[in-house]
Amino acid sequence: MQVIHSIKEMQQITKELRKAGNSIGYVPTMGFLHEGHLTLINEAKSNNDKVVISIFVNPLQFGPNEDFDAYPRDIERDENLARNAGVDYIFYPEVGEMYPVDLSTKINVTKRINVLCGKSREGHFDGVATVLMKLFNIMMPDRAYFGLKDAQQVAVVDGVIKDYNIPVELVPVRTVREEDGLAKSSRNVYLTEQERREAPELYKSLQKASQTIFDGEKDLDKVKTAVINAIQEKTSGIIDYVEIYSYPELEEIKEPKGKIIIALAVKFPKARLIDNITFSI
Ligand code: PAJ
Repeated sequence: MQVIHSIKEMQQITKELRKAGNSIGYVPTMGFLHEGHLTLINEAKSNNDKVVISIFVNPLQFGPNEDFDAYPRDIERDENLARNAGVDYIFYPEVGEMYPVDLSTKINVTKRINVLCGKSREGHFDGVATVLMKLFNIMMPDRAYFGLKDAQQVAVVDGVIKDYNIPVELVPVRTVREEDGLAKSSRNVYLTEQERREAPELYKSLQKASQTIFDGEKDLDKVKTAVINAIQEKTSGIIDYVEIYSYPELEEIKEPKGKIIIALAVKFPKARLIDNITFSI
C-alpha cells in the first residue's frame, strides 16, 4: 500500500492503473476509519482490481461553528487499518494541495438540500459536491462507494454524477452499526459514557417508527412525534430534526407510500449524530 500526497502523482498512478486494464474502486473518506468505512472498502475490493481511498477532512463542507478543527484525525491508525483491509493506495493531501488558491468555480447544489442536514448545515453539500468533483477527477474510479448512513449525501452525489456526466458508478452501501444498533461514526468517540449509553435510542426509535408504519399507521406527524418523544425522554440530546420524506427524492409525502426515509439528527455537546432508516411500503 502506498500513501500519496500529491495530486499530480495520484493522477499519474490512476491513469497508469487504468491503462493497464485495472478497474478502480474508490472510497472517499475524512479518515478516522471505522467498520463503516471498512465495509465500503471490502465492497470495493470484491468488485474491482484496485482499491483507492482518500483521507481528506474537507474544510469546504464545515460551517463556521462546526467541528473542522476538532474532527478526529489519526493517520497512522488509518494507514494500518487500510493496509489490513487490502487498500492499494491512500490519497492523503494537505488542505493547501487541494485548495492552493480560492476556487474560481464552485458547485452549487440546488435540489434535495432544503431538507434534513442540508437545511441545518448551510453550504455543507456545496462543499461535499465541490470536493468530490475534484476527487473524482484525481482518482478516476470506475465505481465509488458511499454509505447510506449519509442518505442525503448519496442522493446529492447521485445528482452531481448525473448532472455532470461523471463516468463513475455510484454504489450505495448499507449502514454499519454497533451491536446495540448505534450507527458507526467517527464522531462517536466524542460521546461521554452516559451519552454513549443513550445513543442507541436513536436507531431504536427509527425501528419502532417504521414498524408502526408497517402496522398501518398513516399519520406521519404522529409517527414523527413518537420519535421525538422517545428521544427526548430517553436521551440528553437536543433534536435537530426528525423528518419523513420520499427517498431518494427527499420530497414531502402526505402518507406513507413507495420508498420512504425516516431521518434524524440529534446534538450532544461534542457530537452531532445522524441516522436514518429507508424502506418501501
Ligand atoms: P466520512 O464521514 O468519513 O464518510 C466516508 C464514507 O463512509 C461516507 O460514504 C459515509 O456514508 C460512509 N460511512 C460512515 N459511517 C458509516 C456507517 N456506519 N455505515 C456505512 N457507511 C458509513 O462522508 C464523508 O466522509 C465526506 O462527506 C466525503 C464523502 C468524504 C466528502 O468529503
